[in-house]
This record gives sequence, structure tokens and C-alpha cells, in this order.
Amino acid sequence: KRREKIRNFSIIAHIDHGKSTLADRILEKTSALTQREMKDQMLDAMDLERERGITIKLNAVQLSYKANDGEEYIFHLIDTPGHVDFTYEVSRSLAACEGALLIVDAAQGIEAQTLANVYLALDNDLEIIPVINKIDLPSAEPERVKQEVEDVIGLDKEDCLLASAKSGIGIDEILEAVVDKIPAPSGDPSAPLKAMIFDSLYDPYRGVIVYMRVVEGTVKPGDKVRMMATKKEFEVQEVGVFTPKPTAMEELTVGDVGFMIASIKNVSDTRVGDTVTSADRPTAEPLPGYRKLNPMVFCGLYPVDTNDYNDLRDALEKLELNDAALQFEPETSQALGFGFRCGFLGLLHMEIIQERIEREFNIDLITTAPSVIYHVYLTDGSQLTIDNPANMPEQQKIDHVEEPYVKAQVMVPNDYVGAVMELCQKKRGDYVDMKYMDENRVNIVYEIPLSEIVFDFFDVLKSSTKGYASFDYEMIGYKESRLVKMDILLNAEKIDALSIIVHRDSAYQRGKVIVEKLKELIPRQQFEVPVQATLGQKIIARSTIKAMRKNVLAKCYGGDISRKRKLLEKQKEGKKRMKSVGSVEVPQEAFMSVLSMD
Ligand code: GTP
Repeated sequence: KRREKIRNFSIIAHIDHGKSTLADRILEKTSALTQREMKDQMLDAMDLERERGITIKLNAVQLSYKANDGEEYIFHLIDTPGHVDFTYEVSRSLAACEGALLIVDAAQGIEAQTLANVYLALDNDLEIIPVINKIDLPSAEPERVKQEVEDVIGLDKEDCLLASAKSGIGIDEILEAVVDKIPAPSGDPSAPLKAMIFDSLYDPYRGVIVYMRVVEGTVKPGDKVRMMATKKEFEVQEVGVFTPKPTAMEELTVGDVGFMIASIKNVSDTRVGDTVTSADRPTAEPLPGYRKLNPMVFCGLYPVDTNDYNDLRDALEKLELNDAALQFEPETSQALGFGFRCGFLGLLHMEIIQERIEREFNIDLITTAPSVIYHVYLTDGSQLTIDNPANMPEQQKIDHVEEPYVKAQVMVPNDYVGAVMELCQKKRGDYVDMKYMDENRVNIVYEIPLSEIVFDFFDVLKSSTKGYASFDYEMIGYKESRLVKMDILLNAEKIDALSIIVHRDSAYQRGKVIVEKLKELIPRQQFEVPVQATLGQKIIARSTIKAMRKNVLAKCYGGDISRKRKLLEKQKEGKKRMKSVGSVEVPQEAFMSVLSMD
């Protein structure tokens, strides 16, 4: 029976522990790819992913493997992203698997995202195979890490496989363990179709390509299918698997992980987590869905050149087709004109989208400082959700404000416990717990406002622990905080794009830092520009940008024309990322300056 030979699994790991490298080794040992087809990081296909060395979108490949028992097995390797921002994508790929390879770096040991991913795997009832990777490193301590796997995760240390994805050690053992330990998918191929959508992608030529895993039943071209959540019906044109090239198949059946094309025009018709069933013989119950994906970080995106507004909208629409997590809606700012308020999973997600817009669509952007969603309770009893500080009502109308909190786990060697606690405290964190993982390493748990994480938490954490800390967080809900809106005035004009929401206790300090920073960042203008920070009507900090001393062109007077032109070019170049805000030319960095803490 074909189904008994199927193994669906993914690889989970903390970032940089070697997941992509191991995936490549597995591809080499299993599929019929030629070396030339085999790009060095096969699964990380997107340019940006490769450059940044991170995995963003999950992928699914089908591989065939001849095991030691002489049988041919079909593997579906489902890739998962490693970064905290993309936890959601991890959980949706894990839902399509029966097992997971848990990669732990032999030198680093268990890190924050190792644990986070283990929890996700356990939530999905997966069989976990621990693999200690990078045993070739001189600093590898496989025995210590094995013990850690047993103590911290609770898996038997005897079950740990030792490997070096880089040198190709232990790969055969891993493949055999996949065959032996991970159960084959169960389900009835003749039952009504039940397939779970775990991703979808818009292709300009073929329409929407649905990535799905068949849990029960069978689907083939010509079948009529129904999306259970949206109730939309489509006729299947093609089904297939990724080998990793998309390859058409006669049908997809129980346990198969592959794609379906069915003249679907809108990605929104194929909701991730939805169940695909047969239109003629529908199943009664959909599969349990996923938890909904909510953006947590918002910022304004504005074209530097106002003529690019429509192009920016097109770009966002195109990106949204392949990225259900991206949200946007038109927004106007007095300072910046027409743009969009966009919602992201986290900061990395935000940066990636910005970079893609600039790179792939060639639009220069002004981005405003990221914000979270605040719950504002007014004195008249009504409630608002605010994702743009500029929209915060006047202080007199506000009864109280709540902000989102996360539970943050920081794992760090002993020596840095003090530094981490100091940082968490400074970020308004509430201490929850601290546990020793072994003699050397500690897991510290704090509840911290998300807005503080959004600022520079991760960077400061890395630098104050020499890069030794690892970090993961999850949303835990809203808590009341003493928050106020701070406005920034340039030349006595309120600049809405620079407004931020701050804790009352740190407002004066932040105000001072920000006006100084703006003074540094905004070039001198023809006239003197006062910079002020205010709470309501009250000015709490002030600095002054002095007027320009002399015309830069003056010194070229009488000089040769090419020199003059060069200077003008240079000025123009420098202006590219400038935006005229009222009467003042403001550079992009200034809009981020409200994030600076010291
Ligand atoms: P993300 O895709 O960002 O989650 O990272 P990853 O977990 O896929 O890590 P990746 O495979 O990109 O490996 C990270 C780094 O570790 C790379 O520089 C690899 O060359 C290196 N690496 C991976 N496996 C090994 C190994 O077995 N030994 C040694 N020495 N280095 C390894």
C-alpha cells in the first residue's frame, strides 16, 4: 500500500542551527536532482530569504527514499521558518505533518526558539526526533546537549541522533529514523475529500496555487471541490507535488502533500487553514482550523514621490496575494500626504515587506515608526482600538488605556543574567520566573509590553549579552498602562507622522532624546526651525535646528560648470529620501528617530 510508505515531516530548529543545510543534505540523498539544479540552499528560494539567510515561506517537497529495508518511501519534507515573527507559519506547516526532526546545535544547545518550536510540535501531536547537529565543530559538546534535551524537553537522550549537516555525517541515520519512528498518515482514501490548505500562492498565469495536505479521500483533475469556509466551488484543473519542481500527478490521496490548481482568481477564496472537500460528496465536518493570524505591528508607508501612490497600492496588493499576514488600508497624514497604514506580524516581517517594495517595485518609501494596537477606553464608556498614535483622542476624553503584553523567554549563560534583567526592567517588564537549564544556562521569563519589544529590545539584548542570548515571545493579552500621546512640532507645526505613545514616567526623558535626535537628523534649512515635544498643550522638550550658513553653490561661483552640476546631483541624491513636511525637509531616518531611547 502506497500510503504506508508515506512520511510527512518537517524540520524545526532555532535560527542558524542548521535546518536549511540539513534539508539540502536530505534532498541530495533522496531526490534525483542534479548538482546543477541543486542550488546551495534549495528550500530558501526567495532572493531576500537567501540574502538574509532566513526562511520565510514554508515549502513542501516530495522525495523518494530507498530505505535499508529495501522499500521505497515517499517523504514530504515541509519547511518551516525559524524566526519568531513567523511562529504562525510554523504551526501551520506542522499541522500537515506526523513528525518533526528537532535540530539542536551541538555547540549552542537548546535556545528559545528550540523550545517554542517543540511546544508547537507537541500541540500538533508530532513524533519528535532529536538531532544534535554540527558535531564537527571543535566547540561541540554533544553529551552536554543530549543531557539538556532530556532535562529541558523531556525526550530520552538515548534517542538523540548525532549529525553534521555540513560534513554529511549522520544523514543516513536520520533518514532511517524518519522511516522507523514517524508514523504513516492514517485516513480513508475512499472517504469524502478532506484536505487542509496550509498555504496559497498567486501565479499570474495559473491563478491561485493551493498548497494542501490530503487528510481523507482523493482529489483529481475534473473533480468539483468546495472551500468549506468561503463556500466557493471550483473545478480542479491540475494536482501535483513538488519534487521540488512542481510535477503534475494523476491524483492526490491520503497523506499526500502537494498543490492544486483550479482556476481560482483570488487568494482570499482559499483561506489558509480551510478545508477543501468535494462539492458532490462533501464531508460533514471541516478539519480543525488554525488560530487566526493577527498583525501585531503597524506602521505608515508613504511614497517619497507622491506620484508613486498608485504604484505603491499595486505593490501592496500584489504582495498581499501571497502573504495573508499582510494588511493595509489607505491613510492620510497631514505631514506625509497619501499613504497606507500596514499591519505586520512583527518587525522582521515589516522590514521584509518594505525591502521588497523598494527592491521589486522600485518605490522609495517613507516609513513611520512602528506602533502596536492600543485599547482606549473613553470617559463616555465607549472603546477605541488605535493602531496609529496620531489618532489617539485628547487626554481629557480618555478614561484609561490598555496595551498588548507578551511573555518573553530569554535564554542566556549565567554571566549575563544581570544584564538581561536590567534590560527587561528598563523595558517595563514584570518578572515572572527564572530557571536553570544546566549549571551554566538560565531561562528567564518576563511579561513585557509589546511596544517595548518593537523598539530595540532584540538589538540591545544581543549587544548586552555578546550575542549569547536567545529570545522568543508570545502574546498574552492586554494590560492597563499609564500611557500618553506625545506630539512633535517642527517649526510650530504638529507633525502627525511623528506622534508616539509613551509611558508617562518616561515621557520627559523620551521627549528630550527625540528632539535632540531630530536636530541631528534634519539638515539645516534656510531658516531656523524649532523642534518641540508636547504632551497635550504642554511643551516638555525643545531644540533648535539652526539656519543654513551659506549657499553650498556659492563656493563654486565662477568655477567650472561640471563641478557645479556634480554638486547639484549630489544634493539631489541626498534629497531622495527627503520629504517636505510643511515648510521643512525631513529625511527618512527622522521618522524612526522617535524610537531612539538614548
Ligand atoms: P534559518 O533558515 O535562518 O532558520 O537557519 P537554519 O537553521 O536553516 O541554518 P542554516 O542551515 O542556514 O545554517 C546556519 C549556519 O550553520 C550556516 O553557516 C551553515 O553553514 C552552518 N552549519 C549548518 N550545519 C552545520 C554543521 O553540521 N556543522 C557546521 N560546522 N556548520 C553548520
